[in-house]
Amino acid sequence: MGMKLYLLLFILGSSHAARNIPKDLWFGLATAAFQSEGAWNESGKGESIWDRFIHNANLRVNGDTTCDSYHKWQEDIENLKKLNVNHYRFSISWPRILPDGTLKSINQEGIDHYHKLIQGLIEAGIEPLVTIYHWDMPMHIYELGGFLNPQFADYFGDYARLLYQEYGPYVRYWLTINEPYSICNRAYGAGQLVPWLNLIGDGIYQCSYVLLKAHARAYRIYDEEFKSKYNGKVGLVISADWYEPASNTTVDSDARERILQFQLGWFANPVFKGNWPQIMIDRIANRSAQEGFARSRLPQFTQEEIDYINGTHDYFALNTYDNYIAKNDEQNITNPSYWFDVGASWVNNTYYPEGFRKLLNFINDRYQPESIMITENGLITGDYLEDDDRIAFLRGYINSLLDAIEEDKINIVGYTLWSLMDDFEWGSYNFRFGLIRVNFTDPNRARTWKNSGYWYKNILETRILDI
Ligand code: BGC
Repeated sequence: MGMKLYLLLFILGSSHAARNIPKDLWFGLATAAFQSEGAWNESGKGESIWDRFIHNANLRVNGDTTCDSYHKWQEDIENLKKLNVNHYRFSISWPRILPDGTLKSINQEGIDHYHKLIQGLIEAGIEPLVTIYHWDMPMHIYELGGFLNPQFADYFGDYARLLYQEYGPYVRYWLTINEPYSICNRAYGAGQLVPWLNLIGDGIYQCSYVLLKAHARAYRIYDEEFKSKYNGKVGLVISADWYEPASNTTVDSDARERILQFQLGWFANPVFKGNWPQIMIDRIANRSAQEGFARSRLPQFTQEEIDYINGTHDYFALNTYDNYIAKNDEQNITNPSYWFDVGASWVNNTYYPEGFRKLLNFINDRYQPESIMITENGLITGDYLEDDDRIAFLRGYINSLLDAIEEDKINIVGYTLWSLMDDFEWGSYNFRFGLIRVNFTDPNRARTWKNSGYWYKNILETRILDI
């Protein structure tokens, strides 16, 4: 190439700088069983709450086949290999392993399936990150009370132990439960996710109480029975967004702090510091008393429970997607509700990757985790292959991540993009997060790479981010 052309290209491209990506920072992709496996009633699998509720709702869409990854797992591994990822985060379907959720019957075909998947990944040089629970609860466990029944921790512990026994020698990174906030707030409280409950005043807090004990049980079982043999790491996947106060008044910055405590702190505080955030304890107790309740709607942990849950982390697993503008919104006593307990409101902010960096700093300062693994981040779009909007989003977020690592010196060990491919977005196939398109009307579920897939592959191969 002539010198002049070089110069021209340099000038044209000069708005794009290049930034090195540390060699030891892992990049990966994520999926979850119900969203991608399909084969909902094959090979001995039991029924999950998502199967049951979606079928009953007659939505014209369901998770019966979705990406058909239960059969196409080898093709998925091929794609992951081509993408050059370090790790793949997937979840195990509890009812595929234990059809009614209990040890009463173990489905060997289910066990074998994940052995093949895990071996396939390892042979491809891809580290498996296994989520034990990503929302597909066995129907029977739900009928026993699901996350409202304290016995849930026993069943969950039994299931987790079985997974450690089977896959412990091959899996070094375990994630107990995906997004407690989504489960307790959105599924049990706000009716947005199965089981579509509206227990926004009290059931949500009971859910969080049971869920944290279940997480801690799974953590402790690994720690006591498997850690010395396999030396893996176990964590809880916590979701959080970033909030900027609407004004520089104290009321709005206090409101922002309350939101962060009620979203992130709700689960991070018991696990990293012991007990609920004090502000939750005080506000919910206070409002409950005024509402005429005999005791706080937020269950009180015993000291023994606090000690059992505190410290149940080997890393901080973070899912993050959005950022918002927060303002004070205190309400007089009306119906008991989480939203009034928070006493704030928030609206979606524009694209603000700097918020990601701020969130990472907030987590690092407050909870001082040994390390942070981003277990989900990504952009929702429509159905198209020229997804340059996704590339722009990722470029900004990964750039912010590198700032947090290099300038703020936060120990971030990996970044996991949601998602490998378009999948069943909890009620719809129209919301697409994949680097790879899936044709859901094709019986073969053909997969086609989007622009973002080629882009991600390129930055993983070159270890250079074009900003
Ligand atoms: C969940 C995923 C979901 C994604 C995008 C996360 O809350 O863990 O299952 O698909 O967000 O909505």
